[in-house]
Amino acid sequence: MKNYDSEKHVKGESQFVDDLLTPAGLLHIIVFASTVAHAKILKIDYSEALNSIGVAGIITSKDIPGENQIGGIIQDEPLLAEEYVHFIGQPIALVVADTILHAKDASVKIKIEFEKLHVITDPREAFQKGELIMSPRIFASGDVDSTWLKCDYVIEGTAESGGQEHLYLETQGAFAYPLETGGIRIISSTQGPTQVQRASAKVLGLPMNKVEVDVTRIGGGFGGKEDQASTWGCIAALAAWKLNKPVKIILSRQDDMRMTGKRHPYSSDFKIGLSSAGKVLAYEVTFYQNAGASADLSPAVLDRTLFHAVNSYYVPNVKATAISCRTNLPPNTAFRGFGGPQGMFVMEAALYKASEVMGIEYRKLQELNLITEGDTFYYGQTIENSTIQRCWQETNTKYDVDSIQERIEDFNRNNKLFKKGFSLMPVCFGISFTNTFMNQASALVHVYSDGSISVSTGAIEMGQGVNMKIRQTVASVFSVDIELVKIESTNTTRAANTSPTAASAGADMNGKAAEIASNIILEKLLNVAAQKLNVKNNSSITLKDGYVYLNSTPELSWFQLVQAAFQSRTNLSSQAQYAVPGIYFDRTINKGKPFAYYAIGTAIIEVTLDCLRGIYEFDSVKVVHDYGKSFSFVVDRGQTEGAIIQGLGWMTIEEIIYNKDGKLITDALSTYKVPDIHFTPKEIEIEFLENVKNDAGIKGSKAIGEPPLMYGIGAFFAILNAMKAFNPDKEYKLSAPITPEKVLCELYPENVNSLV
Ligand code: MTE
Ligand code: HPA
Ligand code: MOS
Repeated sequence: MKNYDSEKHVKGESQFVDDLLTPAGLLHIIVFASTVAHAKILKIDYSEALNSIGVAGIITSKDIPGENQIGGIIQDEPLLAEEYVHFIGQPIALVVADTILHAKDASVKIKIEFEKLHVITDPREAFQKGELIMSPRIFASGDVDSTWLKCDYVIEGTAESGGQEHLYLETQGAFAYPLETGGIRIISSTQGPTQVQRASAKVLGLPMNKVEVDVTRIGGGFGGKEDQASTWGCIAALAAWKLNKPVKIILSRQDDMRMTGKRHPYSSDFKIGLSSAGKVLAYEVTFYQNAGASADLSPAVLDRTLFHAVNSYYVPNVKATAISCRTNLPPNTAFRGFGGPQGMFVMEAALYKASEVMGIEYRKLQELNLITEGDTFYYGQTIENSTIQRCWQETNTKYDVDSIQERIEDFNRNNKLFKKGFSLMPVCFGISFTNTFMNQASALVHVYSDGSISVSTGAIEMGQGVNMKIRQTVASVFSVDIELVKIESTNTTRAANTSPTAASAGADMNGKAAEIASNIILEKLLNVAAQKLNVKNNSSITLKDGYVYLNSTPELSWFQLVQAAFQSRTNLSSQAQYAVPGIYFDRTINKGKPFAYYAIGTAIIEVTLDCLRGIYEFDSVKVVHDYGKSFSFVVDRGQTEGAIIQGLGWMTIEEIIYNKDGKLITDALSTYKVPDIHFTPKEIEIEFLENVKNDAGIKGSKAIGEPPLMYGIGAFFAILNAMKAFNPDKEYKLSAPITPEKVLCELYPENVNSLV
């Protein structure tokens, strides 16, 4: 597996924030955080803690030289609590000491008194009490109200989807030290260096040019470090600034799980109207998003839920309302799919319910309603060069779905306590940040006089292989060995005003910027070659495999060319920006063309359910996916497998439970179950759709980071189908995750109660 970092990862040589060599005198932080979910702070006594061994200082909101505000979209999030606390784990003060243990010892000596206030954990309760992050957002087209009467079937229901813990291997953290120039440098585990820079500058009251953020790589983010790394970056920066010392904060796994936000749980109501032939005529949906205590990225996540509210289907009349509800939980945040999965799940639930009521197979209903070429999604973007139909058809034929169905029915006839189920899941995921302005990236490329190449962009390597893709892109522009290309750390002094590496657009946007910057240098090199080879212009000159060709004769090596350019004082450095062309969205009417293109595919998921125990195993996941013209097969396959398994986990075994006091019950890996090798489907088959190309993506490819996660949604319906094979008369709840515990309770409600 030739990812850029693979070898170092395997040897344990890759450095993460906590691995860096740190200077003598380094201080460590323990965050003193709220233990109640909603309260007024009456009194805090730091005196004993301050006198504790090794303590260098205790920092509170009063010590903040700039603004106590880190809200990215809405300014509603203090870095350190002032009068009130709004969730368990909300930072109140920073205990800074010479060792972690001394900081811990001191932090338990802080005495605090709260006046407890009413705690809300349920989004619907928040909605009823008017606790909203912002006014509801409504996307609509056509007219649902006048369509219901024309429908042969109108089906209503409720669907729930749960949160999800990011569980990046590297927990949140940062290391900061003051600079002699009166600024500060922050080494942060973040997907968004500019976000950390901007927030820290604000908190410290400094201009952005005095705050430098540097990231070599991060040990996973999955969206959890798109905005929420800023908290820890700011905390390290604030302590370093106040104490004028190098300071590090690394969250323990349990603190990370308790203090940081997760995927947004949604509770949704749907109403779907169909013709007797199975065409969806109208769809109305209301999403109650559990945002947690402050906005964070919730408004943007909400937008993507609306964009993907009809998944891959064409629906002529749609009304989708999305409500971001303020609860007393840690602020929920970006998570692979960014609200898209939550929207798609409700659509699939509605189709599934309709299929039951109408007695039409679910997959037939899916197929009947797939959007076709030239149709327009309800927010105004028309489907062009769509492979939705092709992926669906090829999945059906390549894997012979009819025979899968026969085999499963046969198995179910012959087995009483084990039942199998399967389901198809089409995915159509828009590629671009939903906020148009964020679709920009920059790159800085240097060709050194020895022919080696240095590339800086705004992209963060988090395991997804973006560095590999950018490296391949630059190597192919110059047609040199990939070993000559080095990807530098991501640093705010080399790439400014960057968007976070997110929305699956990191490789596309930063790759394109690197490609443009490289092409500027290439053009100059070709001119140098033309001059040296005494030809008028550079049109007959090409670079290939490290050589300069005049027509088809190799004349100079790459090294000789670069030397010649350097000797003739040619600029061998270039900076470029890439702004995704052709996208716009009008927020006054909620119409536009927000996405550069769509990532598309279809999966089949097969499950075997042990109806006595409620446990299940995934027999297979089989996919046909449109990767465009993939140029990093290993990376793309790895992303697909990882995302599928993460999606399966979200839908099935990963269950986040807060009690009514807002306390996280599942705050360790003993109580929060994530997929492991035993959970992984026995078979994962991935077919790269052939003869496709995508000019909007890097080197003709398509973004891959998030889309396959949504194949996991099929797992939920595959399990429901297996449950139906066991007990066909029950109406099952549309409530994810469908844990083994839930399966058992649903299959045997009376028996379970009598056992208790
Ligand atoms: N893959 C790994 N190994 N680790 C991660 O943290 N994050 C995912 C995805 N794949 C992630 C990952 C998310 S949420 C996104 S948005 C994309 O990678 C971001 O990278 P890209 O834009 O380069 O695809
Ligand atoms: N995806 C991820 N992050 C974002 C987006 C998005 O669509 N919009 C704003 N931040
Ligand atoms: Mo990914 S949720 O856009 O970081």
